Amino acid sequence: NAILDFQDHLLQWFWANRRTMPWREVPSPYRIWISEVMLQQTRVETVIPYFQRFLAKYPTVADLAQSDEEELLKQWEGLGYYSRARNLRHAAQEILERFQGEVPQTFEELRTLKGIGEYTAGAVASMAFGQRVPAVDGNVYRVMARVTGCREDIAQGKTQKLLKAETLNVLPDHHVGDFNQALMELGATVCIPKGVPKCGQCPVKDHCEAFRETLQEEIPVKGKA
Ligand code: ADE
Repeated sequence: NAILDFQDHLLQWFWANRRTMPWREVPSPYRIWISEVMLQQTRVETVIPYFQRFLAKYPTVADLAQSDEEELLKQWEGLGYYSRARNLRHAAQEILERFQGEVPQTFEELRTLKGIGEYTAGAVASMAFGQRVPAVDGNVYRVMARVTGCREDIAQGKTQKLLKAETLNVLPDHHVGDFNQALMELGATVCIPKGVPKCGQCPVKDHCEAFRETLQEEIPVKGKA
């Protein structure tokens, strides 16, 4: 079965090659949420020290909800996109008021929180709670476009909708959080955006339409020239 083989190869590769990150070593729903928001526009290496300082100062949802906004923004200096910090604080207050201080466990409830879009809700629901939902970021769009041989513009909404459906289709029932992270990590380290992708090292090249057709440098198609 091709999908089972794809899942198995990707997970085995991830477990053998994953980088250590503080939110992976000591995971909790709160830590995963904070890290995923920080990682939205910022590289892993940059995020790590900010994440450590943030968790030392605001170790729980309640600490974040009661934080002083100016101090919080000062902590955020250097990460940019300050609305992310304001939204985190606002969402922490919502979690206290509507969810008894516990990060909600489903994609649908997570989506109701300020600053939590489709990607972040999928990431937290799958990684923290094992819900079988995709978490499709820019890396995953690229990986899935190559795997499926998608020749459409991946900047377009209808292409993204298609690729999200393809991602849902290949998600396993178990280890779905690791599987979602494996797709991101494959995109960040092997199925890379700039230069030539490292198909020789790819655990799923036998399942990749772009590799089969030698289109890995033509796909993804991105924006109109
Ligand atoms: N980028 C965003 N979330 C990530 C994660 N959990 N692991 C690796 N890269 C990421």
